[in-house]
Amino acid sequence: MTTTPTLANTREELTDLLADARKSGQRIGFVPTMGALHEGHASLMREAAGHADVVVVSIFVNPMQFAPTEDLDRYPRTLPEDLGLCAANDVAVVFAPAVEEMYPGGFNHDSVRDGVTVHPGTLATILDGESRPGHFDGVLTVVAKLLGLVQPDVAIFGQKDYQQLALIRAMVRDLCLPVEIVGAETMREADGLAMSSRNRYLDPAQRAAATVLNRALRAAQERAAYGVAPARWAAMSVLKSEPLVELDYLALTGVDLGEAPDNGEGRILVAAKVGSTRLIDNMSIHVTTPAGTAVAGSTTDERSS
Ligand code: PAF
Repeated sequence: MTTTPTLANTREELTDLLADARKSGQRIGFVPTMGALHEGHASLMREAAGHADVVVVSIFVNPMQFAPTEDLDRYPRTLPEDLGLCAANDVAVVFAPAVEEMYPGGFNHDSVRDGVTVHPGTLATILDGESRPGHFDGVLTVVAKLLGLVQPDVAIFGQKDYQQLALIRAMVRDLCLPVEIVGAETMREADGLAMSSRNRYLDPAQRAAATVLNRALRAAQERAAYGVAPARWAAMSVLKSEPLVELDYLALTGVDLGEAPDNGEGRILVAAKVGSTRLIDNMSIHVTTPAGTAVAGSTTDERSS
């Protein structure tokens, strides 16, 4: 059975809608999104329902996390379809504020930085943070605002945005925010492509080419039994076989995004452009380095430049 979620467009409406749940001690689960929802988001909603009595989804395309040169204007906005997906996944409340509601006075990169924002620190200077300067300031600032407004007991974020998840955990820890953060598994299409709102930009040839990200990560996972360098080499050779894909970075790291272990659990992360669409993906990786073959400083962040 589906229940139509109640739509809140303002902070006041959101607060009123959640007042009873709070008073009666119900646990609130929160899934922040930028809309253009797909099955990956639905899995986050189901995860939230497993941790809470009431599920709230926010739909807000946050201008602060897009550089002036990025795809803010063309980012897909599909509210009616999004509400349908929320209804099918028993979401109680959808918070879909206008820009002025989240950035009173309207949004402008310069003026917003004159105010109080969240500065994420050095973890935001590598990988996506290096490619997209200021991006994580925007993400953490809006997530902090949304957590302040919804005041959830638990918030769910996808592991597809692995660095974002790590930074949100760090913000919650460092700013003592009273919320539990849960990271949910990446949902994939049948051919392995990680689900993403941006996949809808891809034309058929680009859509086929985009599977190279998943294939590269899996090749690295297989070769990781021989060490970090062979794993990286395996991923790079798969990526280089696809001319429609322009690599931004391929990185093999520890689970905390620090140095990759010679033996143990790590992460492999990739970002690439397919046409003008930037895609990211990552997977866990178990590295084993046969005795006597470790290469010093083998942590990698290989960039296209
Ligand atoms: O992952 C996203 O969709 C966005 O970065 C988030 C967390 C909703 C903040 O705008």
